[in-house]
Amino acid sequence: MVKIAFNSALAQKALGKEVPAAVKDPEVASAPVGTEGSTGRCLLTLLGIAFILSGLIVGGACLYRYFTPKRMYHGAMEFRDVSSGAESQPYYLPRVEEEVEISDNIAVISVPPPRFRPGDPAYILHDFNRKLTAYLDLTLRTCFVIPLNTSVVLPPQDLIDLFSQLMSDSYRSYLVHEDLVVTERIDDVKPLGFYIRRLCDGKETYRMQRRASLPGGGIQKRSADECFTIHHFENKFVTETRICKA
Ligand SMILES: *[C@@H]1O[C@H](CO)[C@@H](O)[C@H](O)[C@H]1NC(C)=O
Repeated sequence: MVKIAFNSALAQKALGKEVPAAVKDPEVASAPVGTEGSTGRCLLTLLGIAFILSGLIVGGACLYRYFTPKRMYHGAMEFRDVSSGAESQPYYLPRVEEEVEISDNIAVISVPPPRFRPGDPAYILHDFNRKLTAYLDLTLRTCFVIPLNTSVVLPPQDLIDLFSQLMSDSYRSYLVHEDLVVTERIDDVKPLGFYIRRLCDGKETYRMQRRASLPGGGIQKRSADECFTIHHFENKFVTETRICKA
């Protein structure tokens, strides 16, 4: 067969005809040299491709699972401010909405500007590894850092459960006040860890304390211009965080 093909091609050449062998003699062309060898190579190539593809898929899945297991959740809570007295309650309850991105040890909460109510939009980052919370006030473009309060902030899995619950029905809750005071400026955000550094880099950053834990027993100075509030939740109640610069 091979010999015949070779011969006929030679014969064509000898006759001076520039017709390709494949066209001239399809039977010869469809019987390629070494059929078994090329089928084997083809199979090997296919196997190789399948192997590489499965490797990519498994590898991708692993990377996804272990390095970026982030999830976005959206939730809203209506709340009652018990401290302001029952009479002053409006007909409809105020509402806090937020979006949260939860990974293994980090929760980043995005608080939009509240409607019909004073309060600043903010990003709130809870770093469960470093046990720190950072508030980035988006109106002031300033960062405030305080130790993570684990009796207020639910751990990541519980947060996920809470937001899964909030997705299905609206939630009625109550308001808790939190009074924080700026204590000192932080010049180097590096020791605060990768995530807070990424959030606060290039912004003025301050350390805070609970007012009640200040020496002097937390005498409240009521100067509204130096204070601002952020309404948010990371538990089954809404927290009004009031941050004062003095
Ligand atoms: C955490 O927050 C609660 C409620 O605001 C407060 O009573 C408690 O003292 C705080 N704990 C710490 C360690 O700051």
